[in-house]
Amino acid sequence: MRLTELDGSRLEAAVDLFAAAYAIERESTSSLPEHPLGGPDPLRAEVASVLRRGGVAAVDRGRLIGYMCAGFSFPFKGLRAGLCPVIGHAAEAGREDEVYPALYAAVGCIWAQRGDALHVVEHLAHDRALERLLYALGFGMIVCERVCELSAIEVSCRHEVVRADAASLAAIDAEHASYYRASPIFVHKETDPASIVADLREIEGAGCVFLACLHGGEPIGYCAVGPQSHPEGLLLRNTNSAQLRTAYVRQPYRGTGVGRALLGAAVAHARDAGFDRIFVEHETANTSGSTFWARHFHPYVRFSMRYVDLGPLRGGTEQV
Ligand SMILES: CC(C)(COP(=O)(O)OP(=O)(O)OC[C@H]1O[C@@H](n2cnc3c(N)ncnc32)[C@H](O)[C@@H]1OP(=O)(O)O)[C@@H](O)C(=O)NCCC(=O)NCCS
Repeated sequence: MRLTELDGSRLEAAVDLFAAAYAIERESTSSLPEHPLGGPDPLRAEVASVLRRGGVAAVDRGRLIGYMCAGFSFPFKGLRAGLCPVIGHAAEAGREDEVYPALYAAVGCIWAQRGDALHVVEHLAHDRALERLLYALGFGMIVCERVCELSAIEVSCRHEVVRADAASLAAIDAEHASYYRASPIFVHKETDPASIVADLREIEGAGCVFLACLHGGEPIGYCAVGPQSHPEGLLLRNTNSAQLRTAYVRQPYRGTGVGRALLGAAVAHARDAGFDRIFVEHETANTSGSTFWARHFHPYVRFSMRYVDLGPLRGGTEQV
């Protein structure tokens, strides 16, 4: 095996490698669509666009057996992060242990030159070989995308689920934002009223509906469901998939079936609106939310992150 620069001449072989890895993922998660991104052409276009940003190819006797793109840089947690998206890498089945360490080391050099101190790799959830390697390298999971079919969910909850508007949810949404700031999640979300209302209106404006459980006329839990928001759920783009954009139940009411009732209503709404499946993206440090989603949805993509000390390499000049 030898490493070489990844260029456009490898595009078709790279798309084939990713498509083969996706087919294996789909054996574990049948609710995934047959074609990621809606078909071979959009997949090829997306891989081509990531490939243009540079990367590395692993070649054996002229054949591509793995590739990894350096992808995008963006500001994250006060640092500069490099992100390799899920379609930005793949390895031939059975050769991951041989191929990925070399590919990652080479992409790590590109990220160091750019000044990216956070490395984020988005990967198929059942790619156990890569997950093992990432963990050994010091990565930890931060986000998970999960999908499920739209079969009816059995509900037994004394609170009825009703449609709600953005304005009526401002107070509970602010409480939800504060929830993320606390341990063990430590994700800073804006809690000022103007940002809260703007975010809720953005969700509503994107065609989502809000569903809420009321007690004494006040919302004790709510969720939003509707078309997917970019860039979340990349693999499900153009696949007629609904997204559960947000969900929260006030602490005293948790574990009494309110979340399940909201999810049941969201799934029914997605089905009635003609969607084929529903997905959710969640922080994995949100252990209460993760447990709930794991009961109802199947993981298909994970994001893993690593911090590296760039030391004297620090100070990439490229703007994010
Ligand atoms: C995730 C969350 C929305 C789930 O809501 P919830 O109201 O606690 O969920 P439920 O009570 O329906 O279900 C949780 C579990 O509680 C238990 N439960 C459900 N109904 C119950 C009842 N009537 N009595 C006692 N326990 C019950 C069950 O173990 C249930 O699991 P199941 O679905 O397999 O039955 C809620 O925990 C929450 O708001 N967490 C914080 C915010 C968050 O994580 N949001 C998600 C963002 S990604």
